[in-house]
Amino acid sequence: MITLGIETSCDETALCLLEYKEGKYKVLGNIVHSQIDLHREFGGVFPMLAKREHIKNLPILYEKILKDSNIDEKDIDRIAVTNGPGLEPALWTGILFAKELSKKLDIPVIPVNHMEGHIFASLIGEPDDKKEFQKLRDIEFPAIALLISGGHTEIVKMEQKEKYEILGSTVDDAVGEAFDKVARMLNLPYPGGPEISKIAEKARKDNLENKIKLPRPMLHSKDLTFSFSGLKTAVLYTLKKIENISQDQISDIAREFEDSVTEVLIHKMKKVLDENEVKTLIIGGGVIANTHIRKAFEKLSNDNSIPLYLPESGLTGDNALMIALVGTIKPSNDYEGFRAEGNLSF
Ligand code: KG4
Ligand code: ZN
Repeated sequence: MITLGIETSCDETALCLLEYKEGKYKVLGNIVHSQIDLHREFGGVFPMLAKREHIKNLPILYEKILKDSNIDEKDIDRIAVTNGPGLEPALWTGILFAKELSKKLDIPVIPVNHMEGHIFASLIGEPDDKKEFQKLRDIEFPAIALLISGGHTEIVKMEQKEKYEILGSTVDDAVGEAFDKVARMLNLPYPGGPEISKIAEKARKDNLENKIKLPRPMLHSKDLTFSFSGLKTAVLYTLKKIENISQDQISDIAREFEDSVTEVLIHKMKKVLDENEVKTLIIGGGVIANTHIRKAFEKLSNDNSIPLYLPESGLTGDNALMIALVGTIKPSNDYEGFRAEGNLSF
């Protein structure tokens, strides 16, 4: 069976052709076309521009993926498309493209939850030279997934396969959003996560003295909710007090901010481990590209002897492989009439 995956929830137009045969998966083609350079001048993603770019790029990328993978479109068996959460104008472009193609090819369209996609992106092992991966990582239940992206910060419990329950989430900014906003305050380009991470890493390597202190929000709250907007405001107040900021001060803030976020994430996940039987840990979403946060979770996993699954590099951010994967696993029911749902949840 060949699934065409389509992802247009934010500023990446992504397509994937995924083959599933006798229990094995093979990536026939996988394209992620980023619009970051276009959105950078707005300091964030501008929804109407994203929509226009998706509409322009989808047919071009579709032709390209067929040609590069040497697949006839008649060989595609189903289409999987992100229907939320995300920017609705952007989501609609992928959905309409998928629905039109499904009519033309007379094949089903399966709507996929972007966040479920991020969970599955962590279950894909390193592909071999032939871009084949045997099967998905076998996980033991109950499993806990922490999803950290530009729009979400969620702790999700899975009692069994494809059964999701949200244990905690953010009451304001998502982790990635906080990285992006703090980066903007420090005059670093969008997206801010990789930029902050780069200078924080250097500050650690250089043993730069830690003079600036930031709060650890919600560390002592009794539940599993997060809040990152206070941390962002703390950075703003810190900056207001500094005249003529030096490069060292910028680096100090970046590292202290990253430390704060990491401590809070780890603290909440420790709480989850204390309160629940957990046999598998999964972390997904764009922010898990962050080396410091990755290392902290690897330590947590070792200290508690719980296997940890993280996405390989190239699959941390938005991509259509994760969407094609979920679309391959889901039953091909009649989903006719499904819509874009900006706030789609588990
Ligand atoms: O999952 P994703 O690609 O898109 C959404 O679904 O939101 O996540 C994007 C987010 C952005 O906020 C970006 O700044 C953040 O992931 N990010 C990082 C790093 N790389 C990307 N945050 C911290 N450290 C990084 N290395
Ligand atoms: Zn995402």
